[in-house]
Amino acid sequence: MTVFKNIKELIQVRSSHVRFLAGDEMAELPTIKDAFLIVENGRIHSFGEMKDCPALDAVKVIDCTGRMMLPSWCDSHTHIVYAGNREGEFVDRINGLTYQEIAEKGGGIVNSARKLQETSEDDLYNQSKERLEEVIQMGTGAVEIKSGYGLTVDAELKMLRVIKRLKNNFPLPIKATFLGAHALPSNYKNNKSAYLKMLVDEVMPVIEREKLAEYVDVFCEKGYFTTEDTQFILEAGKRHGLIPKIHVNQFYSIGGVQVGVEHNALSVDHLEVMTDEDINALKGTSTMPVALPSCSYFLSIPYTPARQMLAAGLPLALATDYNPGSTPSGNMNFVVSTACIKMKMTPEEAINAATINGAYAMGLEKEVGSITKGKLANLILTKKINSYNFIPYAFGSNLIDEVYLEGTSMKS
Ligand code: NIG
Ligand code: FE
Repeated sequence: MTVFKNIKELIQVRSSHVRFLAGDEMAELPTIKDAFLIVENGRIHSFGEMKDCPALDAVKVIDCTGRMMLPSWCDSHTHIVYAGNREGEFVDRINGLTYQEIAEKGGGIVNSARKLQETSEDDLYNQSKERLEEVIQMGTGAVEIKSGYGLTVDAELKMLRVIKRLKNNFPLPIKATFLGAHALPSNYKNNKSAYLKMLVDEVMPVIEREKLAEYVDVFCEKGYFTTEDTQFILEAGKRHGLIPKIHVNQFYSIGGVQVGVEHNALSVDHLEVMTDEDINALKGTSTMPVALPSCSYFLSIPYTPARQMLAAGLPLALATDYNPGSTPSGNMNFVVSTACIKMKMTPEEAINAATINGAYAMGLEKEVGSITKGKLANLILTKKINSYNFIPYAFGSNLIDEVYLEGTSMKS
């Protein structure tokens, strides 16, 4: 048993389970000042005001004076399993090429796929593990990871097996998503339907047999996969027990949101370009919209219109999109700051979006995302700060003193 005492402010306390927060609800972030929190067997046993802290013998006591505690970040959209990097394309973009122009020249996703196909499973594991360790140190306590840089039967399965190994070896919840329909490899250039059929007939049965993924994703975008392609993959995914979580509306609104909603997608992600119809389509559904502001930042593309979406009563989650092409960063602290600075979310809204709503967007809302009895003790202990507003305000600073997973310090 571990007791955290004298916590200056315990943030995101929810005495009863919350599925997700939407619209005006997101403005409220419940906290307890001068608090304690008790961890037992890796889970939150109890918490409350210091004056009610029980006297316990033979326990580990951690004095948190001046420091605040919040649930770990829930990063519901990443591609952290990849090989090599694409800093050359970064320089190409500085020199004037667009993300799409680079992709048309054989760069982009297929460039990463080439590298990954040539990388052994062990090497890929080691490269990815470093990134996972990095994001844990930055406060991420639950993460979703996608395939999609393989683009062959073997390489997609290699990615998913690496994700499974990460799941087995790290003490945080990890969800896997099959994103075979991420880009069309050049050998299928004039035969997209054969590529999609290959994903369905040759990859999905293995995923189901070996339990390699929970979710299925498609990059539904002009120049990548159409709404018809997306439907085809989502329907096949359903037959193999995979729930949709899809990339839509990054550059163009082509109906991907609607396809997601029709197929009961758990989340629709990116949403940099949103029409009124797209916003309306999400109303009253259980599909979580997910914004990826560090992708908008890195590519200099629009930010998800959070204010408009919250005003329409929608929920919103925040995630990193950590990947080698559009977001080579897995820093949820930066995501929360950027959401406040660029999307005009309040600190309360952004913290809700990066915790409980992120947990929902990967099916983990019963396990993580709030300070609630019985949830995993995946926690962030801040440095000495005056208020939680300081977290998004001091963008780029590391305000995390210590990270706990299942109540154990991850200090390296
Ligand atoms: O979410 N947009 C599609 N996929 C990734 C980026 C892929 C890449 O450029 O490697 C994303 O941004
Ligand atoms: Fe992505």
